[in-house]
Amino acid sequence: MTQSFSNLIIDWYLRNQRDLPWRETTDPYKIWLSEIILQQTRVNQGLPYYNKFILHYPTVYDLAKAPEDEVMRLWQGLGYYSRARNLHECAKSIVSDYNGEFPNSYNELLKLKGIGKYTGAAIASFAFEQAVPVVDGNVFRVLARYFNVSDDITQPKTFTKFFDIAKELIPKEKPSSFNQALMELGAMVCKPNNPNCEICPLAQACSARIHTKQSVLPVKKKKVKVKNRFLYYLIWQNGEKLAMRKRGPNDIWQGLFDFELIETKNALSTEEILEMVNEKHDQAEIIDISEPTKHILTHQRLEAVFIQLNTPNTTILKENGLQYYTKKQVESLPKPRLIENYLTSKNI
Ligand code: ADE
Repeated sequence: MTQSFSNLIIDWYLRNQRDLPWRETTDPYKIWLSEIILQQTRVNQGLPYYNKFILHYPTVYDLAKAPEDEVMRLWQGLGYYSRARNLHECAKSIVSDYNGEFPNSYNELLKLKGIGKYTGAAIASFAFEQAVPVVDGNVFRVLARYFNVSDDITQPKTFTKFFDIAKELIPKEKPSSFNQALMELGAMVCKPNNPNCEICPLAQACSARIHTKQSVLPVKKKKVKVKNRFLYYLIWQNGEKLAMRKRGPNDIWQGLFDFELIETKNALSTEEILEMVNEKHDQAEIIDISEPTKHILTHQRLEAVFIQLNTPNTTILKENGLQYYTKKQVESLPKPRLIENYLTSKNI
């Protein structure tokens, strides 16, 4: 099986590969340069930059001795500018610490500035025929679909899992072609949307194709966005009593007790707070406005301001589902930690 997997993709690659300049060389300098450029960039966009850099700096010595401003200027438009700074720094280190020669071992390559597991494996295999698998987004996709691996590819341990799978498959005699082939298949055939299974050399034994799971593999869990919320609690008080209410269903604090609440999309200034309270309760007498308190939940960043107010009329209480509780009762009610912390800090 292992034999046929690698043979199938290498045969396909030899017949279908795109002609790209960095594929016609084993010069580690050119391979390294192309891989740094292509890290966050599509081939079509990166190609003119690659040609421009090779023209200006045909060897690592030329790049190492170039002025930083000139390198940055040539990089202009590609984005992720730390790549260009690292590129320049790495070139200088190759000249000063490695006698102008890129190291040929994967582990030694990983020590260089801007060279991570993917780029290290690309240089080790494409330039030096070391059997180290490249694992990029394309490789994740092909292997996850073929072997039905549903681990979340955003997890670091999943990288190791795919690296180990590819390590089993990579042939000792032609690791560079195998790596190029796997990436090219992912880029050209086993695409994220609408993969072209009809022309895929791996189609016959591909688990995702057989079970129609192309659209769910690889699994990439989305980072849950943290939501900012700005909470303005109105604390009506009557002597020692505080007006509270129980929170309803479909709420992160369902069943817990808090105060009348106004929520806004943005943080408000003191003037805006006064205006907002007056707009809602025109006879409210404001006693105190707290400093904003930050409270971090798993998917929410809360910023709360507590506004102490004097005795409202009973209609206001009713309209807002509020009820007075004595100090002792307030103590025993279940409350969100944010409210508990505030009451403790105020010694209420
Ligand atoms: N993207 C990143 N590395 C590449 C390579 N060597 N060939 C084509 N596309 C790539």
